[in-house]
Amino acid sequence: MLTPEEIKEIEHELAHYEQPAAATIEALKIVQKHRGWVSDEAVADIAAKLGTSPASVDSVATFYNLIYRRPVGRHVIHVCDSVSCWVMGQTRLSDALQQRLGVKLGETTTDGRFTLLPICCLGTCDRAPAMLIDQDTHRDLESVEDHRLDAILEKYK
Ligand code: FES
Repeated sequence: MLTPEEIKEIEHELAHYEQPAAATIEALKIVQKHRGWVSDEAVADIAAKLGTSPASVDSVATFYNLIYRRPVGRHVIHVCDSVSCWVMGQTRLSDALQQRLGVKLGETTTDGRFTLLPICCLGTCDRAPAMLIDQDTHRDLESVEDHRLDAILEKYK
């Protein structure tokens, strides 16, 4: 069930759209902001609120790769795996993160601190390789010395 706060925020968004279903992405973001991720039950509740189908809401959630359909850690690291980052050493960065965190791509650390996910282009190709941690973009990560990576990760408790 959507909480009263979630309903209030979704209704605020609905005021901006002629068609309720057009607010799907905003509704998904609102639920994720409160819960950390969007369950099947939440998808169904959003669909009911917007007068659309769960399949339609799910398709939007699947298309938008910053909506999480499974539980994630307190912080989500998205490592860009598109071509510019790949050319500039994304593999080293991704390997270093996996080693540092003790997880593979798609996994969450045992302490629930980080989830590590791939993502396509973050739009900062001129400063590749790049990664996004929560809302923060980190750039120019071609030389991922341990101390630099540790200093970045240390900001996220
Ligand atoms: S390819 Fe990584 S930011 Fe564009």
